[in-house]
Amino acid sequence: MSTSDATRQPQSNALPGAAPWHFDTMQTHVGAAPAQGHGAHVTPIVASAGFAFDSVDHAASIFSMDHLGSYAYARAGNPTNAVVEQRLAALEGGAGAVLTASGQAATVLALLAIVRSGDHVVASSQIYGGTTGLLNERFAELGISVSYVDEQNDAEAWRRAARPETRAFFAESISNPLCTVLDTRLVADVAHEIGVPLIVDNTLATPYLSRPLEHGADIVVHSTTKFLAGHGAVIGGAIVDGASFDFGREPEKWPALHTPSSPGEAGLWERFSPQGLAYVLRVRAILRDYGPAASPFNAFLLQLGIETLSLRMRQHVANAREVVQFLTSHPAVSVVHYAELPDSPWRAAAASYLEHGAGSVFSFELRGGLEAGKRFIAALRLFSHIANIGDVRSLAIQPASTTHSPLTESERTTVGIPAGLIRLSIGIEDARDLLADLSAALDAAHTDAIARDI
Ligand SMILES: Cc1ncc(COP(=O)(O)O)c(C=O)c1O
Repeated sequence: MSTSDATRQPQSNALPGAAPWHFDTMQTHVGAAPAQGHGAHVTPIVASAGFAFDSVDHAASIFSMDHLGSYAYARAGNPTNAVVEQRLAALEGGAGAVLTASGQAATVLALLAIVRSGDHVVASSQIYGGTTGLLNERFAELGISVSYVDEQNDAEAWRRAARPETRAFFAESISNPLCTVLDTRLVADVAHEIGVPLIVDNTLATPYLSRPLEHGADIVVHSTTKFLAGHGAVIGGAIVDGASFDFGREPEKWPALHTPSSPGEAGLWERFSPQGLAYVLRVRAILRDYGPAASPFNAFLLQLGIETLSLRMRQHVANAREVVQFLTSHPAVSVVHYAELPDSPWRAAAASYLEHGAGSVFSFELRGGLEAGKRFIAALRLFSHIANIGDVRSLAIQPASTTHSPLTESERTTVGIPAGLIRLSIGIEDARDLLADLSAALDAAHTDAIARDI
């Protein structure tokens, strides 16, 4: 198996020889090696399915994993992807990273690296609906069960949900669509007490707003489709490992990391934990076997996006704050779910974990329910009506008439999605234009509601 530079230079936050850099510098430079190849200043797309070996011995050393840092076949690693992997690992403060074809693939691989048939996962119930579907349906088909914690910042709730066969805790740093904020340290402490890693989906926050590994989480996953890429042009995902979880403490719980791939060899943990690479190499092995590799074309576009991440996030958050302020004082709006608001139950967690703001994906409730929501969406001109988030363009959707339409009203109420709920993903446009568009659409929804009620 080949491995990438992301696993070869995992501990560094900077290029070899450079002093550790600040975030804005890392997002533009880490991993790039302009002097290599043809001297291209922008990381090139290496479009090659296979990579030539220097010699028979070289080939053998790659397959036996005695030599890391060379490539054999692009399903398991590619030089373009490796640059982005190294950069994401640095931005998250991790030991190594693996890119995947989608965010969904990242969640699948992060869990299947350590969870097998008969095992159990505890997840916050405030996670992305696609992840809930994955756990409830696909993982159930594999014989993996899941329990949900409704009060995600209640340590006792996580303790109660855990079982002897639990192998991972899973939650989102900022959740979609209700903007709940995870008390990462609290949940990580319970996970470690139980003896399992905490995996955090950091998609909505990005490492610019939150770095869960610094607060006790062990593994981070991303849908890079969203803010990390920013342009909304490509699907992608990533797994970043902090190399903090001790898979050696109860080896019988983690056979995948302790069973040798061939007789007489040591397992991944024994061979690679001193370099902090055991989990990342396990992920790369199942990436090779299941096959959801990120294309180097997509990695290239992702890298272009990451170069401006902090600049975009600052504008996303500044715009979101203006929109939140406008909505909270609008008569057509009954509630705004944004973690920075004084009455938000998530305000304390946001203050502790989200140094630069609570992001730009949140929801609000429109008076007038389903029909008012439909009129509001239909009247928007600048916001796009789209089932995506984290784009530079502002996006809006009414879950009750789209993503959550298969649910009954009472099921929607249980998951906190009333009929009049609108999810916004605020982009980087001029806030004045966003407010004008929202104001006109709220007037359309509200005026019609008043006219109808009379
Ligand atoms: C929080 C979160 N995680 C994971 C995913 C899945 O990512 P992808 O669509 O890139 O597969 C999404 C998609 O919307 C998401 O919002």
